[in-house]
Amino acid sequence: MTDHRTPGSPAHPGALPLSGLEYQQAPSQLYRALRSEHGPVAPVLLDGDVPAWLVLGYAEVGYVTAHDELFARDSRRWNQWENIPADWPLMPFVGYQPSVLFTEGEEHRRRAGVITHALEQVDQFELARDSAQIADRLISSFAGSGQAELMSAYAHALAMRAAVQMCGMPQLADETQDLVDDLRISLDAHEGDDPVAAYVRVGERIQRLVKEKRERPGADVTSRMILDPAGLTDEEIVQDLISVIAAAQQPTANWICNTLRLLLTDERFAINVSGGRLSVGEALNEVLWLDTPTQNFIGRWAVRDTQLGGRQIRAGDCLVLGLAAANSDPQIWPEGHVGAENAAHLSFSNGEHRCPYPAPLLADVIARTAVETLLDRLPDIVLAVEPGELTWRPSIWMRGLTSLPVSFTPVVQ
Ligand code: HEM
Repeated sequence: MTDHRTPGSPAHPGALPLSGLEYQQAPSQLYRALRSEHGPVAPVLLDGDVPAWLVLGYAEVGYVTAHDELFARDSRRWNQWENIPADWPLMPFVGYQPSVLFTEGEEHRRRAGVITHALEQVDQFELARDSAQIADRLISSFAGSGQAELMSAYAHALAMRAAVQMCGMPQLADETQDLVDDLRISLDAHEGDDPVAAYVRVGERIQRLVKEKRERPGADVTSRMILDPAGLTDEEIVQDLISVIAAAQQPTANWICNTLRLLLTDERFAINVSGGRLSVGEALNEVLWLDTPTQNFIGRWAVRDTQLGGRQIRAGDCLVLGLAAANSDPQIWPEGHVGAENAAHLSFSNGEHRCPYPAPLLADVIARTAVETLLDRLPDIVLAVEPGELTWRPSIWMRGLTSLPVSFTPVVQ
């Protein structure tokens, strides 16, 4: 059946253009406003006025992610494909690929199981040591100058290097630097970059890595995926390794930077961290409640006609998981205050396709080490601009700063 819902059509009335929203302001207020206006499931328009649903309620996001027989991951069931141009900006996120991200049921359990087992065997002490070494090298590259822009010089570079090191790429090789650069371009292209060519080079390099590790396995994620009794093919391993690295990099980098922002701008932490009372761990957790890196995730596709939050959902409809909105849902925070010491947020999603169990712990080790090493090496670090001058990236998907300029006493090395 053809879906006739276009902007303004009766089946998607009052739909809100998601890309036009003012995401730079305090997002928890924005999401509360959206929820009070539209309820827990809001009709929205993605780029190019493509209709979708934004799931804002904590209970509703929990329900959608827990019922993959109703709300599934294979984007090929989308009822809007005929309205989507080939160069649609969201294509990298929704275009079907034969990776763990888009598989379902038994096949997903097989693929995600291999990733989970491989990540479970990452030694957290070694990961902390490796992350500290990466942090030290990056800090040394700018410590003498007394100033740095931490997003590019630190957070992104560190998260990417930690991820590729876990997968068994040697840290100091030129090839690793090329891979890091190409991954950055394919995930987060700047003007003049060619993300498609960069993505092809990433695929070729990961293919070579898989071949090398088949010949000489080591104590790394790639080798464990190859040796897993599930017997994935090389093509499957390449697809899933790229998914692991890509899924690790952007959110971990933004988690580091959003935590540094909190520590450098919020007096509660500034005073207490130096006094040793409020920990970096508390700042990391508060960020997951208030400025979670993956603020919206696209998504799930309805398997059949159903209802959600009082809305009629049609088979093939796209649902965007409003993870940040769910975290600040007034149903769970009736007093208005958002944030707790517990980990009941939905920042790592929920259900079958959630961020696979050991990954949040590993991300925590990387992010915590990144923040602690920086504060340790540059104890008098301060923002180089007024807090109000920091700007958030105009992205509805990832919450992170455009830049984080800092200054400190230059360190003679
Ligand atoms: C070591 C770092 C990390 C690794 C290796 C990792 C790995 C992954 C993988 C493989 C998936 C796909 C799961 C699937 O489709 O079955 C995933 C999904 C996801 N991850 Fe992570 N991740 C990391 C860090 C993070 C961080 C820091 C966040 C946010 C705070 C995050 C949030 C998510 C979310 C929201 C999803 C989507 C889940 C869904 O579809 O419901 N991840 N991650």
